[in-house]
Amino acid sequence: RTAQADALVIFGVTGDLAHKMIFPALYAMAKRGVLTVPVVGVASSKWSLAQVRKQATDSIKQAGKIDDRSALDRLLSLLQYVGGDYNDLDTFKALKQTLGDARLPAHYLAIPPALFATVIEGLGAAGLADQARVIVEKPFGRDLASARELNRIALSAFAEDSIFRIDHYLGKEAIMNILYFRFANSFLEPIWSRNYVASVQITLCEDFGVKSRSAFYESVGCLRDVIQNHLFQIVALLAMEPPAYQGFGAVHSEKAKVFQAMRPLHPDDVVRGQYSGYRKEPGVAKGSDVETFCALRLFIDSWRWEGVPWYLRSGKCLAATAAEVLVELKPPPQKLFDDSAPVAGRANYLRFRLSPNSAVAIAARVKRAGKEFVGDQRELYLLDEQPGQETPYERLLEDAMAGDGALFTREDAVEAAWAVVDPILNTHHKAHRYKPGSWGPKQADALIAADGSWHNPISV
Ligand code: BG6
Repeated sequence: RTAQADALVIFGVTGDLAHKMIFPALYAMAKRGVLTVPVVGVASSKWSLAQVRKQATDSIKQAGKIDDRSALDRLLSLLQYVGGDYNDLDTFKALKQTLGDARLPAHYLAIPPALFATVIEGLGAAGLADQARVIVEKPFGRDLASARELNRIALSAFAEDSIFRIDHYLGKEAIMNILYFRFANSFLEPIWSRNYVASVQITLCEDFGVKSRSAFYESVGCLRDVIQNHLFQIVALLAMEPPAYQGFGAVHSEKAKVFQAMRPLHPDDVVRGQYSGYRKEPGVAKGSDVETFCALRLFIDSWRWEGVPWYLRSGKCLAATAAEVLVELKPPPQKLFDDSAPVAGRANYLRFRLSPNSAVAIAARVKRAGKEFVGDQRELYLLDEQPGQETPYERLLEDAMAGDGALFTREDAVEAAWAVVDPILNTHHKAHRYKPGSWGPKQADALIAADGSWHNPISV
């Protein structure tokens, strides 16, 4: 079904996510003229509509400047507010009344997962789930069992193609470009397997700490916050087989197969770290063992990837803010030149720069002028800067409202991804301390040592 939603309902409209992400995205959509339906905010706070409008304006100001006053006015005039307890059916009845003639609303659950069941039941009981769509924020579960339970709840009221599970990394241009770059070009396929690829690394590093999100962070930690979802999605796009047909159903199926082929993690494949000073952040438990850094080695037991190690790493308070993939190729079989591989190390690789900018680099050795046959390492750098791109939230909200599920995650894939990390969630080693501004604990270097060393991206 591809009918356009005729209303957008935002549960949790007074909350942090609405403030930081949703209002700026709605404003951008209003500017482009693609938001023309009522936007009904719902929350348990006793706010007035004027307060919600003020919150929206403040949030948009904070995210950038207001450069289109009439778009802002259009957005504010679309806004409505329903306040009430999610446990009270009257809240949903009031919502129904406010929605009036709308028949295809999209309900965005920008609320803690603990409230999902209550809201979904309320929507069902008030007759607001038929024909409707539901947009669900991450984290989608905190282990395999809770993800299954969330899926069960969501599927009790909505069909799978009406459920839009957000992973905002899928809305990033640089990440969509992985899929495009792999399958719009012919030169990659012959080398894109265990025959030529020695290892793959993905680093998502941030040079700041948990900021004001310590309460949330304490309940998740790095593995659940960004690895099981964002980094795994990147792995899936890099590792998947070509989709069997055009259309995103096939992409979803191929991605799910990657997660199904991932070997469940063993505690020895994981290094957890915590930056010094984390325990002193407001809202963090004194003896907290929550990891702010996580590195892992994983294997995909498929025909294409058998034996190739995938190294994933992310952390707060590291030396740079960036996200990069490094696909390292095997060295030439013989050493014909003094300085050539295998001794020279990393000679040929593909580097995908994913954040904050988008680029693809292909590395090779090139002869240096002179009598000697010695060379230098060079990168062929395909910069893909496109100003004025849609932000991930803008893109994802617009897609969900149009009923396009291509950039969302599917039930089977989410569960398969949890099945990979589930074995290490409760049997982990302690988090090692690391210095803010470093590249994490030295144990992470030991993890990768057999296959080389970490590639450290630079900030721009
Ligand atoms: C979020 C995590 O999903 O992704 C944050 O909760 C993290 O902890 C963020 O900082 C990174 O996203 P981006 O788009 O800033 O790279």
